[in-house]
Amino acid sequence: MAGKLAKTCYLIFSRKTLYAEPKGNKGIMDKTILCIGAGYVGGPTMAVIADKCPDYKVIVVDMNQARIKAWQSDKLPIYEPGLDEVVKRARGRNLFFSTDVIAGIKEAGIIFVSVNTPTKTFGEGAGRAADLQFWEKTARSIIEHADDDKIVVEKSTLPVRTAQAMHRILQSNTKGLNFEVISNPEFMAEGTAVGDLQNPDRVLIGAMETPSGQKALQRIVDIYDHWVPREKIKTTNVWSSELSKLVSNAMLAQRISSVNSISALCEKTDANILEVSSAMGMDSRIGSKFLRASIGFGGSCFKKDILNLVYLCEHYGLPEVAAYWEQVVKINDYQASRFVRNIVKRMFNTIAGKKIAIFGFAFKADTGDTRESPAIYISKMLLEERAELSIHDPEALENAAIDLADTEGKFAFESDPYKAAAGAHCIAVLTEWKQFRDLDFKKLFAVMEKPAFIFDGRNLLDHQKLFELGFNVFPLGQKSLSHL
Ligand code: NAD
Ligand code: UGA
Repeated sequence: MAGKLAKTCYLIFSRKTLYAEPKGNKGIMDKTILCIGAGYVGGPTMAVIADKCPDYKVIVVDMNQARIKAWQSDKLPIYEPGLDEVVKRARGRNLFFSTDVIAGIKEAGIIFVSVNTPTKTFGEGAGRAADLQFWEKTARSIIEHADDDKIVVEKSTLPVRTAQAMHRILQSNTKGLNFEVISNPEFMAEGTAVGDLQNPDRVLIGAMETPSGQKALQRIVDIYDHWVPREKIKTTNVWSSELSKLVSNAMLAQRISSVNSISALCEKTDANILEVSSAMGMDSRIGSKFLRASIGFGGSCFKKDILNLVYLCEHYGLPEVAAYWEQVVKINDYQASRFVRNIVKRMFNTIAGKKIAIFGFAFKADTGDTRESPAIYISKMLLEERAELSIHDPEALENAAIDLADTEGKFAFESDPYKAAAGAHCIAVLTEWKQFRDLDFKKLFAVMEKPAFIFDGRNLLDHQKLFELGFNVFPLGQKSLSHL
């Protein structure tokens, strides 16, 4: 180390300080950021950091060549409102996309790791625990290719205490290098990612409670300090940060399952879930957000993060806590199958050979992402009942085709909603795309088989108006409006 300290010092100008640092300590002061993983999180997060921090160079790498090519092109690999403008402003200036992971590791002092952490499908913890193989591979590449100290930032969502394992792997390097592991989980939601990143409720940064850990933490605070008010930058110990991310997702999902469970009771009692949600939400202790009844939550994270939480609780000998959180996922599955059972029941107990128009396949509006979309499970259940599906979505048809590639049954994809509905017995609204509200339902009714049904799995449409047009309307958690 003494030899390293004697190496040439160089100056790096920061907004607040002028540092003189030895090269071995470059990671602590360097203003080149690398992000490994150019997915739904890595791409938008780094684009916003580059946009807001022109004094930093931001390199985003991924082993997926097609994805990187798309990030370098005019057609970005993900659909996210407002993202094109942000990327265009920074790309080529201080934002770069590349497949050269090794060069990135050598150049950057701060390395964000934003790789996927899906649910494990094999071995110990299969179906629950997080699969950390992608994350560990990046740690090993970092050790192999780093020539100087680095700050490694967990951007992926990880089980609590992952940082400890990571730190041990990184510190096992034989080059005498020091690595600081920071937890900086991401809270953006798809469809609103750019706004969430530009104006976050909070930025969470967790670090080891050591002098070097605290120094590294300050370097990450410095980045966000460019645009996030200081009182919204919450610093904690690294374990609290890791766990807060899992629990935040679990709490959000729990609200949805709670309200969805009550939607079933509303249908039995003539209470109206919209009124119940609104009345509950007026209590400032409850709050009005995330109380929309639906066919269930989807997305790549809620289910996997809750299952991971369940696994952790079991691992730490807390079976009652594990069972509590597992119920959130069970109610979510129940809500999707309840929706399908209702369709079959209302359509005279059979949908075999009947055409059903699926309106919306994305897991939520304003994204083309279909990962864990309830539409996948609902479509498969409808196909098992031998219905014929015509699937329409403004952004997600490519992904839908991949999701259903190995599924048996009759289904087709249709970019025109009127063609999707032609000859259909029923429309099932599965995604809350606002543009569905503006469709010409008179025209839709005219092209459909009669009696025509609408099952609104998002409570999106004007049900009274649809009823007056002649539809039999089945919302969620509300009285049905039927001519039959
Ligand atoms: P993603 O699958 O879209 O992206 C991950 C990328 O990492 C992929 O493109 C993959 O090719 C790349 N990758 C994996 N291993 C690599 C390696 N060794 N070298 C280079 N590239 C590698 O995933 P995502 O949705 O961006 O999620 C990433 C993480 O962020 C997950 O842990 C997730 O839980 C978390 N998260 C996601 C969201 C969201 O809205 N999607 C929000 C908050 C947090
Ligand atoms: C969610 C969280 O909101 C983010 O904070 C988090 O960063 C992210 O997961 C993650 O870790 O991946 P996201 O899944 O992109 O974001 O989208 P949400 O808006 O949370 O919606 C999730 C699902 O819940 C969607 O299927 C949505 O339709 C559904 N939902 C949401 C409801 O059914 N009802 C509601 O009231 C709200």
